[in-house]
Amino acid sequence: MNGRDLVRSVKAFGSAGAPQGLRTVRAAWRRRRTDAIGLPARGAERARVPGQVQDAEPAPGGGVVRFSRSELRIVVAVNGAVFWGWDGAGPEPSYALAGRCPEPDPRAVLEPDKDGGWRVVAERATVMVSRHGAVEVRTPGGVTLRRDLPPRWWEPVAGGEARWMQRSEVAADARFFGLGGRASGPRLRDGTYRLWNTDPGRAFGPGDDPLYITMPVQLVVADAATHLVFHDTSWDGTVTLREGEEGAGSGHDRVGMSELRMTGGPLRCWVMVGTPARVLLAWASLTGAPALPPSWALGHHHARWGFGSEQEVRRIVAGYQERGLPLDAVHLDIDHYDEHQVFTVDQERFPKLPQLAGELLRDGIRLVSIVDPAVKAAPGNAVHDSGTAEDAFVRDAAGRLVKGVVWPGEALYPDFTHARVRAWWGRLYQERLAAGFAGFWHDMNEPTSFNAFGESTLPRSARHALEGRGGDHQEAHNVYALCMARAGYEGLRELVPGERPFLFSRSGWAGIQRYGGTWSGDVATGWPGLRASLSLVMGLGLCGVPYSGPDVGGYDGHPSPELYLRWFQLGAYLPLFRTHAGLRAGRREPWEFGAEVLEHARVALVERRRLLPYFMTLAQLARRTGAPYVRPLWWSVPEDRALRDCEDAFLLGDSLLVAPVLDPGSDRRAVQLPRGRWYDTATEQVYEGPGQVLVDAPLSRIPVLARAGAVIPVRGDDGGIELEVWAPARGRSGGGLVVRDAGDGWDEPEIERYVARWEGRKLVVQREGEDGLSEPSHPVRLRGPGAR
Ligand code: GLC
Repeated sequence: MNGRDLVRSVKAFGSAGAPQGLRTVRAAWRRRRTDAIGLPARGAERARVPGQVQDAEPAPGGGVVRFSRSELRIVVAVNGAVFWGWDGAGPEPSYALAGRCPEPDPRAVLEPDKDGGWRVVAERATVMVSRHGAVEVRTPGGVTLRRDLPPRWWEPVAGGEARWMQRSEVAADARFFGLGGRASGPRLRDGTYRLWNTDPGRAFGPGDDPLYITMPVQLVVADAATHLVFHDTSWDGTVTLREGEEGAGSGHDRVGMSELRMTGGPLRCWVMVGTPARVLLAWASLTGAPALPPSWALGHHHARWGFGSEQEVRRIVAGYQERGLPLDAVHLDIDHYDEHQVFTVDQERFPKLPQLAGELLRDGIRLVSIVDPAVKAAPGNAVHDSGTAEDAFVRDAAGRLVKGVVWPGEALYPDFTHARVRAWWGRLYQERLAAGFAGFWHDMNEPTSFNAFGESTLPRSARHALEGRGGDHQEAHNVYALCMARAGYEGLRELVPGERPFLFSRSGWAGIQRYGGTWSGDVATGWPGLRASLSLVMGLGLCGVPYSGPDVGGYDGHPSPELYLRWFQLGAYLPLFRTHAGLRAGRREPWEFGAEVLEHARVALVERRRLLPYFMTLAQLARRTGAPYVRPLWWSVPEDRALRDCEDAFLLGDSLLVAPVLDPGSDRRAVQLPRGRWYDTATEQVYEGPGQVLVDAPLSRIPVLARAGAVIPVRGDDGGIELEVWAPARGRSGGGLVVRDAGDGWDEPEIERYVARWEGRKLVVQREGEDGLSEPSHPVRLRGPGAR
C-alpha cells in the first residue's frame, strides 16, 4: 500500500481526512531528524581479518581455535547441526532458536589437521579450519560442500558495531534456495538479495525484492549433499549469489559463490548437512516444530478488504452456501475496526459480531481477524491508554515516543522485544475472542509506516528492549514480526488453553513457524504474480515455514476469468487456501467470473475438502519432521539435475505431484516426472518417470498426478476417512501414513501406517502395526487401471 492508497482508504472510511498527507510528511521528517541525532556517524573504519592461527582448545562438541586477531568457536550439537561463531559469539542469545541451544555432541572432538589447521569430525559433517581462518564443511565421505573464506570485519575506529563480510564457495553444480519469501525463486538466480523485511508499498511481482519475510537461511542443493546454512544475525544485510558452472569436456569447473554482507551483529552460523528431509528435520529441531493449524484452517478461507458490514459478510457466506461451495473461514480486514484501530469493532457496521460468529460457527465457518501492530496515537482509546500505562511503545534515543503513520493515522509501535509488552499484547486478544474470532492474521508488521521519503518503517535509531540487552531498530527490525507472533501465540495459549492457536503473519524471521504460518502478501494480479506466489510458498517451505499461501486471484486489479481460475486451482493444493483482495480490487468470489469458472472452482473446492485428511496428515508430518507440505520435485532425489531446475510443479507430500497452469491459453503442459510410475488422478492415465511428459490441462483442472503405490487418506461421502490407493507397478509395493485429526486441541493423534502390495493379481492393502499386519481401519478405494 502506498501513501495514495492510504489517503483514498482514509477517505473511504472517513477517518483522519485531509491532514493525513501533511502528517505523513511530518513523520518522515521526524524520522530523518531522529536518525541524524540517534545514530552517530560511523566515521573512519579499520578492516580486520582473523590473522594466523595461534592455538586451539577443545571443549564439548568441538572447541575454540584462536587466531591472532579473532577466535572461532565450533560446537557440534546433538541434533547433528554444526555451529560456529567468530569473535567469541556463541549460539545464544538467539531469536531463531526454539529454546536453549541443543546440547553439544560429546563424540565430536577438535583435532589438529595438516598445514597447521584444525578439524572437528562429526557424524554427518567434517569441519576443517585452515590456519588463516577459512572454514570448510565436508560430507562424511570427504566431499567439500561449502568453503567459507576468512571473514572480514570493518570496525568504526571510534567504536561501535562492526560490519562484516563472509564469502563462501559451493560446488559448481549447487543451486541456492531459501532466504525467506522471494518472488523470483524458488531457485535463486545470480543477483543480490537483501535481508531486511520490507513492505514493497504496492502489489509486487517477481522483480520485487526484498519482500515481507527475509531470512539469512540458504538451502544449497548439490550432487554431494544438501546443506542448510543459517547466519544467526538479524541485522540488515545482503546476500549476493552466483551459481557455479561445470566445465564441459576439458574446461574447469567454476565454483558457486555466496557473499554475505552484514551491517552488524555477530558473525555466527549453523550448518546442517544431509538429505533435504534430514536437513529440514535438524532445522525444525533447532528453531521449533511448525505449529499445527486447527483442521478448519486447512479448508477454504475467503477474505476481502472492504466487506464493510455484517450484511455483506452474510451475503457472501450465503453465496457460497446457495451454490454448494465449501467454505471454512471468513477473514475480516481493517474495515471492521473502529477508525482503523486494532482491537476495536465498528459498532455501526458490525453491531452484533459475536452473534454473526455464532451463526457462522453453526455452519462450520470460523471468523478470522486481521491484527495490525500499530496503535492509534490517541489518548482516550483503550489500547493506547493501556499500552501507555505499560510503557509498551517504542521510543527514540532521547526517550520520546516514535510515531509512524499507518491505517489509523499517527500510530505507536509496541516493542515486542520486551517480555512484559508481549504479555500485555497477548491479553488484548481477549477482546477478539469475545467478538467471536477464532483465528488471527497479523499484518503490517515489518513493521510498516507510510512515509513519503526513505524506508517505510521505523527509524533505525528507534530503541528496543531486545530482552533486556537493549539495542536499536537495526537489530530489532527483522525480528519484530517474529516477536509479535510470539506475543499473539503465547497470549492465545493462556486465553484458550484447550485449543491450538491459529495465526499467520505477513512478516517474520527464522523460527516464525513455531507460532504459525504466513501468506504471500499483496501479490500483483497477473500471470507473473501467480508464478511468484508459488515461488514464495516453496521457498518458505525450504526455510522451515510450511504453512503459507497466496491471495488467490492476486491482491490488486481484476484478474481475467482464466487467471482467477488457474490461481484458484493452484491455491486448492497449497496449505493456506485463501481468496483475498484489496479495497479497490475486483471481486474474488468464485461466482463473479461466469458460470464456467464457477463450475471449475467448485470442483477445486470439493477436491480440497476431499483431500482434508491428507492435508491434516501433512500438517502433522510437518510438525513432527519439519518437512513442508509443498516440496520441490527433487525433494527425495536432490541429485536429479533436471528436477533441481524445475520450478513450475511441486510434490504435495510424498503422494501427489501438482502441476499448476501458470501461463494463459494452455490446455496441456509439460511435466518433469521423478522416477517411477505416476497416474493422472483425473483420467488414470499412466506415465513412467523419470523424464518429461505432456499432460492434459483443460480449463476444468490442473494436472495432479499420484505416485504409484500411494495410500492417500481422503474424506468419504459420509465424512469419514477413506483410503485412496493407487496401484503400485507390478512386482512393486507402496504405502502411506494416515494421521487422524484428533480435534483442535492438543491430543496426540495415532499414526497409522499402510502398505499396498500385489498378491498375485490382487492388490492388498494392510495396516502395519506392532503386532504385524491387520485389516485397514478405513474403507479402501483402489485406483489405477487394473487395480480393481
Ligand atoms: C495490507 C495487507 C492486505 C490488507 C491491507 C489492509 O496491504 O497486506 O492483505 O488487505 O493491508 O488491511
